[in-house]
Amino acid sequence: METKIISIVGEKGGIGKTTLNLILASNFHYAKGKKVVLLDGDNPQYSIYKKRQRELNLLEPSEIKELELYPIERVTVESLQDTIMKYYGLIDYIILDLPGSLNVEMVKGLLYVEHIFIPFSHDELEIDSTSNFYFTLKNNFLDNEERVLKSVNLFFNKYKLVRKNKFSLLRQQFEQAGIPMMQSVVKDRTIYKEQYRNTLYPIPENKEDGELDIKRFFEEVEQLSN
Ligand SMILES: Nc1ncnc2c1ncn2[C@@H]1O[C@H](COP(=O)(O)OP(=O)(O)OP(=O)(O)O)[C@@H](O)[C@H]1O
Ligand SMILES: [Mg+2]
Repeated sequence: METKIISIVGEKGGIGKTTLNLILASNFHYAKGKKVVLLDGDNPQYSIYKKRQRELNLLEPSEIKELELYPIERVTVESLQDTIMKYYGLIDYIILDLPGSLNVEMVKGLLYVEHIFIPFSHDELEIDSTSNFYFTLKNNFLDNEERVLKSVNLFFNKYKLVRKNKFSLLRQQFEQAGIPMMQSVVKDRTIYKEQYRNTLYPIPENKEDGELDIKRFFEEVEQLSN
């Protein structure tokens, strides 16, 4: 089986990396039937791993038995490679959640990732740092002869309709600078940090138009990592 190693990652804190890696893993697995492992590299908080534990603690053993859970593994710089090897070739996606700063954890983690998705929210101060991050990745990983990294794409998270013009101006600026932007955006919605951010269930199938944005985002992630 061809395994893809992907990560929603960026060098900014609080931009939605963990939230979206988690929602992506749950929806790829429970809604799209893909085999997924989610690697929690946010040492030492391990917030995803702990969240799974808390969610399971609320259920009866019989309920847990019925769930076909995807694994969530805690990783460190030292254990990352072995953990990847344990799953490589056996599953569809290895999704890696890294901490939000360019520290040794992140740089080592990035060496293994094939497709990177960088969330970005409209904030003037972030424009420079996000494009610097993109070009750092491009120069060091993407254009490297022995590269593992195949694609880097930016997308808007916490997208607000009221700021549509600002976002489209920004999109133009990024495109002119040669930075690839995803078509889909993830809206700023409370439900993404509440019910839908869980490791046990996908976004319900029959939800009206409300969640189309994030479903399109899942589709685009799938296409771009092909
Ligand atoms: N699309 C969204 N709509 C609403 N809230 C969001 C959205 N994306 C992220 N958030 C919220 O933004 C906050 C930061 O998200 P999160 O912890 O996922 O970011 P992070 O990039 O992983 O942060 P860190 O750098 O600390 O690891 C959380 O409260 C989260 O619920
Ligand atoms: Mg995080």
